Amino acid sequence: MGRGSGFGKAILFNEHFVVHGVPGIVSAIDSAADAEAKKGGKGITVEDERTGAEGYAEKKRLQQKESIEKMLKAMNIDSQKVSLRIWLGGNLPGFSGIGASAASSVAIARAVSEELGMGLSDEKINEAAYEAEKAYAGNPSGIDNTAATYGGLIWFKKNLSGGVNTIERLSIRKPVETVIGNTGIVANTKAMVSGVAERRQKYSQKYGELFRQAEDLAFKARKALEAFDLKQVGKLMNENHRLLQEIGVSCKELDYLVDLAREQGAFGAKLTGGGGGGCMVALTPGKDLQEAVASAMENEGFEVLRTKIGIQKG
Ligand code: MEV
Repeated sequence: MGRGSGFGKAILFNEHFVVHGVPGIVSAIDSAADAEAKKGGKGITVEDERTGAEGYAEKKRLQQKESIEKMLKAMNIDSQKVSLRIWLGGNLPGFSGIGASAASSVAIARAVSEELGMGLSDEKINEAAYEAEKAYAGNPSGIDNTAATYGGLIWFKKNLSGGVNTIERLSIRKPVETVIGNTGIVANTKAMVSGVAERRQKYSQKYGELFRQAEDLAFKARKALEAFDLKQVGKLMNENHRLLQEIGVSCKELDYLVDLAREQGAFGAKLTGGGGGGCMVALTPGKDLQEAVASAMENEGFEVLRTKIGIQKG
C-alpha cells in the first residue's frame, strides 16, 4: 500500500491577485490530508472519509474525479489501464478555502507514486497536483498545490509565460496563532476565479489600480512578516481584505466573521482562499487572544480551526 500526505494552507495575502502574476504569501497549517492507494478493484475508486463541512464531498465529487484523471495523466499513468483503490482522510477538514482540494491531490499523488514504485520527487508531485487543481480552480495559480507539497511559509509568484514559478521560503521568528473561521458555505473556486478575470477585463482601469495596490501590499507584508511586526501584518491583512472586497470575492458571511474577529481584538482578519463563502483567517497571537476569537465565532454557531502559521514543517 502507498501512503502520502499534503498540508492544508491559509493564504495570508493576495489570493486571486496571484492568479494574474501578483505575488502572494501562503502558510501551511498544522492539519493535513492523508491518502492511501492500493492496486486492485475496478477502475479508480475513492473512499473519502474526511470530516468536513456538510455537503463538501458531494459538491466536489465530480471535480474530484476529473482532478484524479488529470493528475494520473500528468504522472504518465493511463487511468483506463490501472485499477486503484484510493482512501482519503486526515485531520484537515473539508472546508472551502484551506486548500482541502490541493492537499488531497498532493496526498493522492504521493500515495499513488509510492504504490506504483515511481519514487516521484516533490517537484513532480507538485506538478501533478497543479494539473489536478485545474479541475477545481479552472485556471489555478499553483499557490495551493505548492503550499500543500512543501509546507512552511511561502512567497509565491506565478510565471505568466508558463516558465518556473517563483517559490521562496520565508521564515518568521516563531509560529503565530491564528483562527480560521468557516462560513459553512461550500464555494466554487472555479466560478470565483473566472469571475475576477471577467471583471478585470471589463473594468480594466479600476482593476489595474487595485492590482497595483495588491502588488505593493505583498512587498510590505513580506517585510512585516520577516521583521515579526505582527501589528503591521494584521493591518495589511485588513487592507488586503478591503481589496478582495473590491474585486468582488467576499460575501456578507465572510465580512461578518472578519468584523467579529476584529472586534474581539484580532490583529487583522481577511477572507482566505477563493472567497464567495468558505473561510476567513484572523491573526491572533497568543493562546488567550486565539481562544477569545475562536469562541466568539463558535458562540455564533460557526466552525473554527485553531491553528498556527509559520510552522516550518507545515
Ligand atoms: C484559492 O485557494 C486561491 C485562488 O487564488 C486560486 C489560485 O490561486 O489558484 C483563488
